[in-house]
Parts: sequence; structure tokens; C-alpha cells
Amino acid sequence: SIAFALALVGGYLIGSIPFGLLLTRAAGLGDIRGIGSGNIGATNVLRTGRKGLAIATLLLDALKGVAAVLLARWFLGDQDLVAGTAAVLGHTMPVWLGFKGGKGGATGLGVCLAAMWPVGLACMAIWLISARVTRISSAATLIGVASAPVLALMLSDTEHALLALLVGILIFWKHEANIRRLIAGTEPRIGQKG
Ligand code: G3P
Repeated sequence: SIAFALALVGGYLIGSIPFGLLLTRAAGLGDIRGIGSGNIGATNVLRTGRKGLAIATLLLDALKGVAAVLLARWFLGDQDLVAGTAAVLGHTMPVWLGFKGGKGGATGLGVCLAAMWPVGLACMAIWLISARVTRISSAATLIGVASAPVLALMLSDTEHALLALLVGILIFWKHEANIRRLIAGTEPRIGQKG
């Protein structure tokens, strides 16, 4: 349907805005893709030493997920999960960056908060606790992402659980290099240059 297509394209375009790249470039830090892990997300922006920019990247990347879901809900009715999935797809594979984008943690959290806020809050808490324990951002994200489908089954419904699973698979796939480093024991701690 037209609504489905609009949710897909609209969500993708919202998700594809590479805030981490734009903010660090505007701050005169050069290309973030040449720093640390090379990722455009908040964790890697923090490796520039600019905490404020990292927080702004986290909030804006999450806001993309929130906006995609809410706009779809308001204007298209029941296409919010399509728009949310498309937003994470846009963030991880933006056409503007040759389809090489971020890893989807922040945008996925935003989608989760807007589509099923109790699950979103639980995932945030799980991320914070895991980050405190491991001091590794990617590990905390992977633990949070793995919890989301289970939490969705408990606190939401099957449709939302399937969304969480689908987005989760995408986020895990984008963390392939991180998973390799985690297994090898070489993944840097939060704030470390890597
Ligand atoms: O979710 C955290 C993930 O984005 C890790 O980023 O820069 O450590 O690969 P990075």
C-alpha cells in the first residue's frame, strides 16, 4: 500500500541522517570514520574526547527512531513498526555514505522507546547496568539488543517481539567486528581510543 511505502521510505530517510558524522565534521574534528572503530555512532564520537558531541549524537540518533515511529503512527496509522525498522535500516545503511552507516544501537533504542516504551526503558536499564559491569559499549548494546525480543514477548505482543528480533539481527550483524574483538579480548573500554 501507499502507507507502507511512505513508512518505508520516510523511515529510511529519517534514519539515514548521519548525525555523528555531521556533528564531528561541524566541530572541525575531520572524518569520524577515520577515528577509533571508524563508526559514526556516539560510542566512537566519545573517542574524540568530546563528551557533549557524543551525548548529542546519542540523543539525535535515538530521536530518529522515535520520530520515525511517531510520525508514522500520526500520519499513516498502523505503519509505525515498518517505519521504525526502516529508520534502523537507514542508519545502518545510508545511501549518502555508500550504504556504510552506523550499528543501530541508539536508533534501535529510540524505536523501542516509541513503539513499546516499557521495553525501551528496560533495555536502557540493561544497557546501563551492562556498561557499568563490562565497561564495553558494544557488549552492553549486544546484551540489551538480545534482551529486547524476550522483553517484548513479556511486556508487549508477538508483533513487537518480531520487530525486536528483526532489528536485533540487523544490529548484531553490524557488530560483527566488535564481536570478533570481544571474543579476542581486544575490544576497547568506553572512552578508550581503541
Ligand atoms: O553499540 C555500541 C557500538 O556502536 C559500538 O561502537 O565504535 O565501539 O564500534 P564502536
